[in-house]
Amino acid sequence: MTVTPHAKRGRIITVTGIDGAGKSTLAARLYQALTDAGHPSILVGKHSTEVSMDPELSAYVDRLNELVYRRDARVAQACGDHYWLLALAAWYSLQDTLVIRPALAAGTHVILDNAQHKILARYAVNERVSTRLAEQVFAHLTEPDLVFFLRIGAREALRRKGEFTSLETGHSGAEDKDFIRYQDSVLAQLREQEQCGGWLSLDVTGMDRDTVYKTASEALADRLQLTI
Ligand SMILES: Nc1ncnc2c1ncn2[C@@H]1O[C@H](COP(=O)(O)OP(=O)(O)OP(=O)(O)O)[C@@H](O)[C@H]1O
Ligand SMILES: [Mg+2]
Repeated sequence: MTVTPHAKRGRIITVTGIDGAGKSTLAARLYQALTDAGHPSILVGKHSTEVSMDPELSAYVDRLNELVYRRDARVAQACGDHYWLLALAAWYSLQDTLVIRPALAAGTHVILDNAQHKILARYAVNERVSTRLAEQVFAHLTEPDLVFFLRIGAREALRRKGEFTSLETGHSGAEDKDFIRYQDSVLAQLREQEQCGGWLSLDVTGMDRDTVYKTASEALADRLQLTI
């Protein structure tokens, strides 16, 4: 009897950092390079709603995406912090179950633009919501094989972004100093998570896009033997 060998499990690589650190930029570049190098890969982020070969599930994921990400600021604020924690947990849970796990099992690599780490950091600095609750609602998600932590101070992140939303100041105000104070506290929380995570931490202050990409691609070859 011939046994069909199972495809080698894919790897999941994610990027974390404060708002404007360059996560989406690096994630897109890594995905492109993996694909160009012939590694089957998908890029997963807050705009991904496609469930492979399943229009019905894709339509369902799209409806949840609309509820979570395509709403105006007034609606968002009216719903409250606990609702958003649970809504985000629902979103990450669906992505994990319907997109990420099946891809990994089929031998496809997953680049996840921004896993739950930044959300956990935001809730850790939010006194209205228990940090333990936030940790628990994400605890079942697939553990990444590699986490790139793009470290940058809030002031430089703001220069890169140019503008910001109320959420990105933790609803603390509308001035640059509000963004900077809040994002620096989120950064401090990410640095605490880094201590127990085995993350690959890169100080990207003053690093251009090509240098960030080159450094990350070397780490990918070194840590996961994935050459691009
Ligand atoms: N290494 C870099 N040097 C300078 N600018 C950069 C660099 N990387 C990204 N940028 C620019 O900074 C801005 C923020 O980048 P990006 O959207 O990738 O950040 P992000 O971490 O995904 O932010 P968010 O948390 O808001 O999603 C973009 O305009 C991007 O083109
Ligand atoms: Mg982004």
